[in-house]
Amino acid sequence: MTSRDLQPGFPITRLRRLRAPVAWRELVRETRLSPSELVLPLFVRAGRDQRRPIASMPGHAQLSVDLAVDEARIARRLGLGGVILFGIPEHKDPQGSAALADAGVVQQATRAIKDSVPELLVISDLCFCEYTDHGHCGVLAKSGDVHELDNDATLPLLAEQAVSHARAGVDVIAPSGMLDGMVGAIRQGLDEAGFSATPILSYAAKYASAFYGPFREAAESAPAFGDRRGYQMDAAAAAGQALREVDLDLAEGADAVMVKPALAYLDIIRTVRERFPGVPVAAYQVSGEFSMVKAAAAAGWLDERATALEMLTAIRRAGAGIVLTYWAKDVAGWLGA
Ligand code: PBG
Repeated sequence: MTSRDLQPGFPITRLRRLRAPVAWRELVRETRLSPSELVLPLFVRAGRDQRRPIASMPGHAQLSVDLAVDEARIARRLGLGGVILFGIPEHKDPQGSAALADAGVVQQATRAIKDSVPELLVISDLCFCEYTDHGHCGVLAKSGDVHELDNDATLPLLAEQAVSHARAGVDVIAPSGMLDGMVGAIRQGLDEAGFSATPILSYAAKYASAFYGPFREAAESAPAFGDRRGYQMDAAAAAGQALREVDLDLAEGADAVMVKPALAYLDIIRTVRERFPGVPVAAYQVSGEFSMVKAAAAAGWLDERATALEMLTAIRRAGAGIVLTYWAKDVAGWLGA
Protein backbone atom coordinates (compact mmCIF):
# COMPACT_ATOMS: atom_id res chain seq x y z
CA MET A 1 0.00 0.00 0.00
CA THR A 2 1.43 3.43 -0.96
CA SER A 3 1.06 6.65 0.99
CA ARG A 4 -1.19 7.88 -1.82
CA ASP A 5 -3.77 5.21 -0.92
CA LEU A 6 -3.62 6.11 2.73
CA GLN A 7 -4.02 9.87 2.37
CA PRO A 8 -6.35 10.95 -0.43
CA GLY A 9 -5.13 14.08 -2.22
CA PHE A 10 -1.62 13.84 -0.85
CA PRO A 11 0.92 14.68 -2.21
CA ILE A 12 -0.92 16.39 -5.10
CA THR A 13 -2.34 18.98 -2.74
CA ARG A 14 0.17 20.50 -0.39
CA LEU A 15 -1.30 23.57 1.28
CA ARG A 16 2.15 24.54 2.47
CA ARG A 17 2.69 25.68 -1.12
CA LEU A 18 0.50 28.70 -0.23
CA ARG A 19 2.88 29.74 2.56
CA ALA A 20 6.24 30.27 0.91
CA PRO A 21 7.99 32.11 -0.52
CA VAL A 22 7.04 35.23 1.40
CA ALA A 23 6.11 37.29 -1.66
CA TRP A 24 3.76 34.50 -2.81
CA ARG A 25 2.21 34.19 0.67
CA GLU A 26 1.58 37.95 0.59
CA LEU A 27 0.09 37.80 -2.89
CA VAL A 28 -2.42 35.07 -2.04
CA ARG A 29 -3.49 36.39 1.35
CA GLU A 30 -6.56 38.37 0.15
CA THR A 31 -7.19 40.15 3.46
CA ARG A 32 -5.33 43.43 3.46
CA LEU A 33 -5.08 46.35 5.82
CA SER A 34 -4.59 49.90 4.73
CA PRO A 35 -4.82 53.22 6.54
CA SER A 36 -7.58 54.36 4.19
CA GLU A 37 -10.20 52.14 5.82
CA LEU A 38 -9.30 53.11 9.38
CA VAL A 39 -11.04 55.80 11.41
CA LEU A 40 -9.33 57.46 14.38
CA PRO A 41 -11.45 58.38 17.43
CA LEU A 42 -10.67 61.78 18.99
CA PHE A 43 -11.86 63.11 22.35
CA VAL A 44 -12.36 66.85 22.22
CA ARG A 45 -12.83 69.33 25.05
CA ALA A 46 -12.93 73.09 25.42
CA GLY A 47 -9.86 75.26 25.93
CA ARG A 48 -6.55 75.80 24.19
CA ASP A 49 -3.34 73.87 24.21
CA GLN A 50 -4.76 71.26 26.53
CA ARG A 51 -3.83 67.63 26.35
CA ARG A 52 -5.19 65.47 29.16
CA PRO A 53 -3.81 61.96 28.80
CA ILE A 54 -6.27 59.11 29.32
CA ALA A 55 -4.51 56.79 31.76
CA SER A 56 -6.26 53.63 30.59
CA MET A 57 -5.60 54.36 26.91
CA PRO A 58 -1.89 55.07 26.54
CA GLY A 59 -1.16 57.45 23.67
CA HIS A 60 -4.68 58.92 23.72
CA ALA A 61 -5.81 62.10 25.40
CA GLN A 62 -8.66 64.53 25.69
CA LEU A 63 -7.62 67.33 23.37
CA SER A 64 -8.60 70.96 23.15
CA VAL A 65 -9.91 72.01 19.74
CA ASP A 66 -6.56 73.39 18.52
CA LEU A 67 -4.76 70.14 19.35
CA ALA A 68 -7.55 68.10 17.77
CA VAL A 69 -6.85 70.03 14.57
CA ASP A 70 -3.20 68.98 14.82
CA GLU A 71 -4.31 65.35 15.12
CA ALA A 72 -6.60 65.81 12.14
CA ARG A 73 -3.65 67.05 10.09
CA ILE A 74 -1.66 63.97 11.07
CA ALA A 75 -4.62 61.73 10.22
CA ARG A 76 -4.81 63.29 6.80
CA ARG A 77 -1.07 63.03 6.19
CA LEU A 78 -1.15 59.33 7.14
CA GLY A 79 -3.98 58.71 4.70
CA LEU A 80 -6.51 57.61 7.31
CA GLY A 81 -10.14 57.19 6.27
CA GLY A 82 -11.26 59.85 8.73
CA VAL A 83 -11.73 60.79 12.36
CA ILE A 84 -14.72 60.34 14.65
CA LEU A 85 -15.28 63.03 17.25
CA PHE A 86 -16.47 62.61 20.84
CA GLY A 87 -17.15 65.72 22.88
CA ILE A 88 -16.51 66.35 26.54
CA PRO A 89 -18.65 69.38 27.42
CA GLU A 90 -17.91 71.93 30.13
CA HIS A 91 -21.37 71.59 31.66
CA LYS A 92 -23.65 68.60 31.97
CA ASP A 93 -27.36 68.71 32.77
CA PRO A 94 -30.26 66.25 32.77
CA GLN A 95 -31.13 67.07 29.13
CA GLY A 96 -27.57 67.11 27.80
CA SER A 97 -28.28 70.55 26.37
CA ALA A 98 -24.59 71.26 25.63
CA ALA A 99 -24.89 68.68 22.86
CA LEU A 100 -27.32 70.89 20.97
CA ALA A 101 -25.36 74.13 21.03
CA ASP A 102 -23.86 75.37 17.79
CA ALA A 103 -20.97 76.53 20.00
CA GLY A 104 -20.64 73.02 21.48
CA VAL A 105 -17.27 71.38 21.51
CA VAL A 106 -17.89 68.88 18.70
CA GLN A 107 -19.36 71.65 16.57
CA GLN A 108 -16.35 73.88 17.24
CA ALA A 109 -13.87 71.11 16.56
CA THR A 110 -15.63 70.23 13.33
CA ARG A 111 -15.51 73.80 12.06
CA ALA A 112 -11.84 74.10 13.00
CA ILE A 113 -10.90 70.79 11.35
CA LYS A 114 -12.93 71.52 8.23
CA ASP A 115 -11.22 74.92 7.97
CA SER A 116 -7.70 73.52 8.23
CA VAL A 117 -8.01 70.05 6.71
CA PRO A 118 -11.12 70.18 4.53
CA GLU A 119 -10.38 66.89 2.74
CA LEU A 120 -10.35 64.86 5.96
CA LEU A 121 -13.60 63.01 6.62
CA VAL A 122 -15.18 64.09 9.90
CA ILE A 123 -17.65 61.69 11.51
CA SER A 124 -19.47 62.72 14.67
CA ASP A 125 -20.59 60.30 17.34
CA LEU A 126 -24.14 61.32 18.09
CA CYS A 127 -25.27 60.54 21.61
CA PHE A 128 -26.18 62.19 24.88
CA CYS A 129 -24.25 60.11 27.39
CA GLU A 130 -21.28 62.48 27.44
CA TYR A 131 -23.60 65.47 27.95
CA THR A 132 -26.12 64.33 30.55
CA ASP A 133 -25.30 64.59 34.25
CA HIS A 134 -26.76 61.11 34.78
CA GLY A 135 -24.68 59.65 31.94
CA HIS A 136 -27.52 57.93 30.12
CA CYS A 137 -27.94 58.22 26.36
CA GLY A 138 -30.96 60.53 26.39
CA VAL A 139 -33.51 62.17 28.64
CA LEU A 140 -35.03 60.22 31.50
CA ALA A 141 -38.61 59.58 32.50
CA LYS A 142 -39.80 58.30 35.82
CA SER A 143 -41.47 54.94 35.63
CA GLY A 144 -42.66 53.93 39.07
CA ASP A 145 -39.70 54.49 41.36
CA VAL A 146 -37.03 54.25 38.74
CA HIS A 147 -35.71 56.65 36.18
CA GLU A 148 -35.51 55.19 32.73
CA LEU A 149 -34.33 56.38 29.39
CA ASP A 150 -37.26 58.01 27.62
CA ASN A 151 -36.80 56.68 24.10
CA ASP A 152 -39.40 58.70 22.24
CA ALA A 153 -38.73 61.99 24.04
CA THR A 154 -35.06 61.65 23.12
CA LEU A 155 -35.66 61.23 19.37
CA PRO A 156 -36.32 64.88 18.49
CA LEU A 157 -33.29 65.88 20.56
CA LEU A 158 -31.12 63.48 18.58
CA ALA A 159 -32.43 65.04 15.38
CA GLU A 160 -31.66 68.50 16.74
CA GLN A 161 -28.12 67.46 17.68
CA ALA A 162 -27.61 65.94 14.23
CA VAL A 163 -28.71 69.14 12.50
CA SER A 164 -26.33 71.16 14.67
CA HIS A 165 -23.47 68.81 13.72
CA ALA A 166 -24.36 69.01 10.04
CA ARG A 167 -24.49 72.81 10.23
CA ALA A 168 -20.97 72.76 11.68
CA GLY A 169 -19.82 70.75 8.67
CA VAL A 170 -19.77 67.15 9.90
CA ASP A 171 -19.52 64.82 6.91
CA VAL A 172 -21.14 61.73 8.43
CA ILE A 173 -23.43 61.41 11.45
CA ALA A 174 -22.96 58.29 13.58
CA PRO A 175 -25.74 57.81 16.14
CA SER A 176 -24.59 55.48 18.92
CA GLY A 177 -27.44 55.52 21.42
CA MET A 178 -29.28 52.35 20.33
CA LEU A 179 -32.65 54.02 20.66
CA ASP A 180 -35.54 52.64 18.69
CA GLY A 181 -36.37 54.89 15.78
CA MET A 182 -33.24 57.01 16.10
CA VAL A 183 -32.13 56.69 12.49
CA GLY A 184 -35.56 57.64 11.14
CA ALA A 185 -35.82 60.65 13.44
CA ILE A 186 -32.34 61.86 12.54
CA ARG A 187 -32.90 61.31 8.81
CA GLN A 188 -36.11 63.30 8.92
CA GLY A 189 -34.51 66.09 10.95
CA LEU A 190 -31.54 66.33 8.58
CA ASP A 191 -33.76 66.29 5.49
CA GLU A 192 -36.07 68.99 6.84
CA ALA A 193 -33.09 71.20 7.64
CA GLY A 194 -31.71 70.84 4.12
CA PHE A 195 -29.08 68.20 4.88
CA SER A 196 -30.47 65.38 2.79
CA ALA A 197 -26.94 64.76 1.45
CA THR A 198 -25.47 64.02 4.89
CA PRO A 199 -25.00 60.26 5.37
CA ILE A 200 -25.84 58.31 8.52
CA LEU A 201 -23.49 55.59 9.77
CA SER A 202 -25.63 53.87 12.36
CA TYR A 203 -24.23 52.01 15.34
CA ALA A 204 -26.83 49.40 14.40
CA ALA A 205 -25.64 46.39 16.37
CA LYS A 206 -24.11 47.82 19.49
CA TYR A 207 -23.83 45.50 22.44
CA ALA A 208 -23.89 46.29 26.16
CA SER A 209 -20.24 45.50 26.67
CA ALA A 210 -17.62 45.40 29.39
CA PHE A 211 -15.12 46.38 26.70
CA TYR A 212 -16.29 50.02 26.87
CA GLY A 213 -14.71 50.45 30.31
CA PRO A 214 -11.75 52.67 29.38
CA PHE A 215 -13.89 54.82 27.03
CA ARG A 216 -16.12 55.85 29.89
CA GLU A 217 -13.08 57.28 31.62
CA ALA A 218 -11.95 58.90 28.38
CA ALA A 219 -15.32 60.48 27.61
CA GLU A 220 -16.41 60.91 31.23
CA SER A 221 -19.65 59.18 30.32
CA ALA A 222 -20.13 56.37 32.84
CA PRO A 223 -23.81 56.13 33.85
CA ALA A 224 -24.36 57.61 37.32
CA PHE A 225 -26.77 54.78 38.14
CA GLY A 226 -27.84 51.58 36.46
CA ASP A 227 -26.38 50.45 33.16
CA ARG A 228 -27.15 50.48 29.45
CA ARG A 229 -28.56 46.99 29.20
CA GLY A 230 -32.02 48.43 28.71
CA TYR A 231 -31.06 49.82 25.32
CA GLN A 232 -27.79 48.29 24.13
CA MET A 233 -27.95 44.72 22.84
CA ASP A 234 -27.53 41.63 24.95
CA ALA A 235 -24.30 39.81 24.08
CA ALA A 236 -26.16 36.52 24.35
CA ALA A 237 -28.94 37.49 21.94
CA ALA A 238 -29.16 35.37 18.80
CA ALA A 239 -27.36 36.86 15.79
CA GLY A 240 -30.75 37.30 14.14
CA GLN A 241 -31.49 40.18 16.49
CA ALA A 242 -28.51 42.07 15.08
CA LEU A 243 -29.91 41.46 11.60
CA ARG A 244 -33.26 42.92 12.68
CA GLU A 245 -31.48 46.00 14.05
CA VAL A 246 -29.59 46.44 10.79
CA ASP A 247 -32.69 45.83 8.71
CA LEU A 248 -34.67 48.45 10.64
CA ASP A 249 -31.89 51.03 10.50
CA LEU A 250 -31.60 50.58 6.75
CA ALA A 251 -35.35 50.92 6.36
CA GLU A 252 -35.18 54.15 8.38
CA GLY A 253 -32.50 55.52 6.09
CA ALA A 254 -29.10 54.43 7.39
CA ASP A 255 -26.42 54.54 4.70
CA ALA A 256 -23.90 52.33 6.48
CA VAL A 257 -24.03 50.21 9.62
CA MET A 258 -21.68 49.43 12.46
CA VAL A 259 -21.08 46.43 14.66
CA LYS A 260 -19.55 47.16 18.05
CA PRO A 261 -17.39 45.90 19.76
CA ALA A 262 -15.44 44.07 17.07
CA LEU A 263 -13.26 41.21 18.25
CA ALA A 264 -15.83 39.40 20.38
CA TYR A 265 -18.48 39.92 17.68
CA LEU A 266 -16.75 38.69 14.53
CA ASP A 267 -19.66 36.34 13.90
CA ILE A 268 -22.02 39.31 13.85
CA ILE A 269 -19.78 41.22 11.44
CA ARG A 270 -19.68 38.17 9.15
CA THR A 271 -23.45 37.59 9.33
CA VAL A 272 -24.28 41.24 8.60
CA ARG A 273 -21.75 41.34 5.75
CA GLU A 274 -23.29 38.25 4.14
CA ARG A 275 -26.90 39.21 4.64
CA PHE A 276 -26.60 42.79 3.38
CA PRO A 277 -24.32 42.81 0.37
CA GLY A 278 -23.69 46.32 -0.82
CA VAL A 279 -24.22 47.90 2.59
CA PRO A 280 -20.97 49.31 3.97
CA VAL A 281 -20.18 47.58 7.27
CA ALA A 282 -18.02 49.24 9.89
CA ALA A 283 -16.68 47.64 13.04
CA TYR A 284 -15.57 49.49 16.16
CA GLN A 285 -12.52 48.03 17.84
CA VAL A 286 -13.40 49.58 21.17
CA SER A 287 -11.39 50.98 24.05
CA GLY A 288 -11.18 47.72 26.01
CA GLU A 289 -9.85 45.85 22.99
CA PHE A 290 -7.10 48.46 22.77
CA SER A 291 -6.32 48.83 26.46
CA MET A 292 -6.07 45.13 27.22
CA VAL A 293 -3.38 44.70 24.59
CA LYS A 294 -1.60 47.87 25.72
CA ALA A 295 -1.53 46.60 29.30
CA ALA A 296 -0.31 43.16 28.31
CA ALA A 297 2.32 44.68 26.04
CA ALA A 298 3.51 46.98 28.83
CA ALA A 299 3.94 43.90 31.01
CA GLY A 300 5.93 42.25 28.27
CA TRP A 301 3.31 39.55 27.72
CA LEU A 302 2.21 40.41 24.19
CA ASP A 303 3.81 42.02 21.18
CA GLU A 304 1.58 45.07 20.67
CA ARG A 305 2.17 45.52 16.97
CA ALA A 306 1.75 41.85 16.03
CA THR A 307 -1.32 41.47 18.24
CA ALA A 308 -3.01 44.64 17.01
CA LEU A 309 -2.40 43.79 13.36
CA GLU A 310 -3.72 40.25 13.87
CA MET A 311 -6.89 41.56 15.55
CA LEU A 312 -7.45 44.13 12.82
CA THR A 313 -6.85 41.54 10.12
CA ALA A 314 -9.43 39.27 11.73
CA ILE A 315 -11.96 42.12 11.81
CA ARG A 316 -11.34 42.82 8.12
CA ARG A 317 -11.47 39.10 7.26
CA ALA A 318 -14.81 38.80 9.05
CA GLY A 319 -16.16 41.36 6.60
CA ALA A 320 -15.76 44.86 7.98
CA GLY A 321 -14.82 47.34 5.27
CA ILE A 322 -14.30 50.17 7.75
CA VAL A 323 -12.63 49.84 11.14
CA LEU A 324 -12.71 52.43 13.91
CA THR A 325 -9.57 51.88 15.93
CA TYR A 326 -7.38 53.63 18.48
CA TRP A 327 -4.41 52.11 16.62
CA ALA A 328 -5.21 53.93 13.36
CA LYS A 329 -2.11 56.14 13.41
CA ASP A 330 0.14 53.30 14.59
CA VAL A 331 -1.12 51.02 11.84
CA ALA A 332 -0.28 53.63 9.23
CA GLY A 333 3.25 53.75 10.63
CA TRP A 334 3.54 49.95 10.89
CA LEU A 335 2.43 49.56 7.30
CA GLY A 336 4.95 52.16 6.24
CA ALA A 337 2.46 54.76 5.07
C1 PBG B 1 -21.64 56.23 23.33
C2 PBG B 1 -20.42 55.50 22.92
C3 PBG B 1 -19.68 54.59 23.67
C4 PBG B 1 -18.61 54.19 22.88
C5 PBG B 1 -18.72 54.85 21.67
N1 PBG B 1 -19.87 55.65 21.71
C6 PBG B 1 -19.81 54.17 25.06
C7 PBG B 1 -20.96 53.47 25.59
O1 PBG B 1 -21.89 53.10 24.89
O2 PBG B 1 -20.94 53.29 26.78
C8 PBG B 1 -17.56 53.21 23.28
C9 PBG B 1 -16.31 53.23 22.49
C10 PBG B 1 -15.16 52.56 23.10
O3 PBG B 1 -15.26 51.83 24.12
O4 PBG B 1 -14.08 52.72 22.55
N2 PBG B 1 -21.58 57.58 22.99
